[in-house]
Amino acid sequence: MTYYQKYHVPAGTFQVNARKPLILQAYLNSCVGVALFDAEAGIGGLYHILLPEPVSHKSEYNREKYAATGLPLFLGHLVREGADISRLQAVIAGGALAGKVSNQDIRLDIGGRTAEVVKEVLGKHGIQVALSETGGFFTCCLNFNLETFDYEVIPALLSDEQEVDDTTHGRISKLDDIQPIPQVALKILRMIDEDAYDIHNLSQEVRKDQVISAQVLKYCNSAVFGGQGGIDSIDDALLIIGQTSLAKIVTAMAVKKLLNNSYTGYSLAKGGLYHHAIGVALVAEKIAALSGKASPFAAYSAGLIHDLGKVVLDQFVSGARPFFYREIMGENDLVETENRLLKTNHTKAGLKLAQKWDLPASITNTIRYHHTPDDAESHRELVTIISVSNSLFHMFSASPSLHKVDMNSLSRRLEVLGMSISDFPAIVDAIPHQVLSGSPELAIT
Ligand SMILES: [Fe+2]
Ligand SMILES: [Fe+2]
Repeated sequence: MTYYQKYHVPAGTFQVNARKPLILQAYLNSCVGVALFDAEAGIGGLYHILLPEPVSHKSEYNREKYAATGLPLFLGHLVREGADISRLQAVIAGGALAGKVSNQDIRLDIGGRTAEVVKEVLGKHGIQVALSETGGFFTCCLNFNLETFDYEVIPALLSDEQEVDDTTHGRISKLDDIQPIPQVALKILRMIDEDAYDIHNLSQEVRKDQVISAQVLKYCNSAVFGGQGGIDSIDDALLIIGQTSLAKIVTAMAVKKLLNNSYTGYSLAKGGLYHHAIGVALVAEKIAALSGKASPFAAYSAGLIHDLGKVVLDQFVSGARPFFYREIMGENDLVETENRLLKTNHTKAGLKLAQKWDLPASITNTIRYHHTPDDAESHRELVTIISVSNSLFHMFSASPSLHKVDMNSLSRRLEVLGMSISDFPAIVDAIPHQVLSGSPELAIT
């Protein structure tokens, strides 16, 4: 295997070289990256462009900053090194509206205009564009291999590279942009994990979070409880529905907020991720009770949050691959497909966020290993429960799904739980009918 050194091309500069084992990289938000190469002559380069054109005569001093003035310099350099303009091929990436987007950003659309200027200049020289992936809302990384002249554009958040300053390149900031899970839910998750469940503490915590309190009361006064109303404090709710139900509703409401912030890359409709989460949580709770291999409440909460990584990936998917869902409809394995198309998968992306939020190990392991429970580092039985519940939910729920169930691995996983395929009727029977008929929220309590 060849070892490739990497060189980060800073914004407003370009790098041109003859063929050698080196990977040129540019991390791009609104900046546009252009790789140009003449494979026959063995000359290539990468240019990291900041802006479309100079705003005043003064800025002429910095010609490399601008597409309009810098691209001719880049081309000139390639030709001097031996490239032939008629043989050049181009790869263009970036020009996104990354980070927090204001109306001003959309109006200015600096990235979009830079990409336009690039295409205009390349067009004028009759240069063929081999790949153009511009726009969207995400930081990407353009890699250009100076030895093989291979190139790839990958979402930068998902790159495994750690040596780049994350804040400058906006990579971790995408994780920061994801609204954190409410404190109260985090505390409940920790209490469950430590098996130190303190009801006094719980209701106090719930009261501190006005948004969650209001949602819990709304839920308690809804049709689920006969729609009679009259529950107007958390203390009332506690008295009427009990502590476990209250904790279940609080975590569900917290996760709902998180999942419903997602776009539609991973589900056919808004709310699809939440619907799936509740369904898996409720199936997991039943399997935990039937198998006795985990606390039902722990299984419920792990089920709620198992696909956290989809929230992370969804941000990329909706902006950069709006047809992602359709692209993968016919595929057999979601994780494999994600690896191929996105260079990562929702279990890895979820792990990053779970670690950042310092979620307990039971949850972190579930997030990372629910598609490969045999690899779980700890809490293997809990992770297996979620894995089985995920499969069952997909098999029996009315909603369309991407997940194809492999019966062999399902029966192996049931064995880990001391169960077998012959327990199927009992398991399915224990699942509340609302879960499978499309309104799982009704079955929380
Ligand atoms: Fe999953
Ligand atoms: Fe899932």
